[in-house]
Amino acid sequence: MSRIVKIFDTTLRDGEQSPGCSMNLKEKLEMAKQLERLRIDVIEAGFAIASPGDFESVQLVANEIRNATVASLARSTEKDISTAYEALKGAANPRIHYFLATSDIHMQYKLQMSPETVIEKAIAMAKFARNLCGEVEFSAEDASRTRPEFLYRVLEGVINEGVTIVNVPDTVGYTTPGEYFKFIEGIKNNVPNIDKATISVHVHDDLGLGVANSLAAIQAGAGQVECTVNGIGERAGNAALEEIVMALKTRYDVYQVDTNIDTTQIYRSSRLLSKLTGVRVQPNKAIVGENAFAHESGIHQHGMMANKETYEIMTPESIGLKENKMVLGKHSGKHAFVDKLTSLGYTFAAEEVLDLFNQFKVLADKKKVISDKDILALVEQKQLAI
Ligand code: KIV
Ligand code: ZN
Repeated sequence: MSRIVKIFDTTLRDGEQSPGCSMNLKEKLEMAKQLERLRIDVIEAGFAIASPGDFESVQLVANEIRNATVASLARSTEKDISTAYEALKGAANPRIHYFLATSDIHMQYKLQMSPETVIEKAIAMAKFARNLCGEVEFSAEDASRTRPEFLYRVLEGVINEGVTIVNVPDTVGYTTPGEYFKFIEGIKNNVPNIDKATISVHVHDDLGLGVANSLAAIQAGAGQVECTVNGIGERAGNAALEEIVMALKTRYDVYQVDTNIDTTQIYRSSRLLSKLTGVRVQPNKAIVGENAFAHESGIHQHGMMANKETYEIMTPESIGLKENKMVLGKHSGKHAFVDKLTSLGYTFAAEEVLDLFNQFKVLADKKKVISDKDILALVEQKQLAI
């Protein structure tokens, strides 16, 4: 049996921190219900102490979602952690997720704390959170820029207090796949009690490496990956959920891990998020972009008609799309053109088809995309001329 990697979705927390992506209470619940249909393992519903609205939405999601763990983020203070628990306590499976930065730059300039104070605080808050909640996750913020020996001590300390998920984020999207792989291996080999916890990764996309880094960490043994629908999130965003999940599924031969995700809900989840936030994905976005399953060039269309695997490495159906899209444009060939005529209910003699095709090419030079209406107009002209 293959290993299962848990998918932790933070669209409603880190994703919502993306400019222009905020959602109201009703919208968050609608998205959470879609995430439940997607069979997400853990839904991070928000940051309960951030605002009364955030508290309310964590509480609502916790009360309504029954088939996923619901988490709330908290800083390393008793007030934050107890507020998170207060919001979560109606959940079927609540998880407190608290964090503290461990890199030198964050400890010195942001926290203004010594490393020893940081380690003591992380451990004390692990104890505090575990007294409230059966499941606690600790994030060592800016872990990828943390001195490894210090990080190992922090992780060992919180695991000793009952933390069962240790998240080691690449908070600023700085790492690279090879480096992050070794970093996870280092944790596995140097934190003595690591077998009592799941290693989680959470990667930002500042260098466009978010998904590659997440996959490298999974190869190194990470058991949970944190990500967002459409890759929304702080700055350049978080690693995109749909890309990680479909890479694991399509290249099972490489990764040899499964997820619990119902991938046929991916497209619907992406569209719903765009509708709720008003933020659209770019057309060439992997998996969910408008053009991800569209084919325009004649050579590709011809290949696709002979065998879809010539130019498609996964099926549109696997992400919940009905079919791929054959787009007619100036690069399209006669095969696709005839196919379109047939699908619109027309058959013509060979020389008429050739004539229509030539007219189509002239039109395609003037228009970016040719619609069914354009084809029908050409056909009508032709019929009048016959
Ligand atoms: O990017 C980050 O480090 C975070 C943590 C709070 C998990 O979002
Ligand atoms: Zn983050």
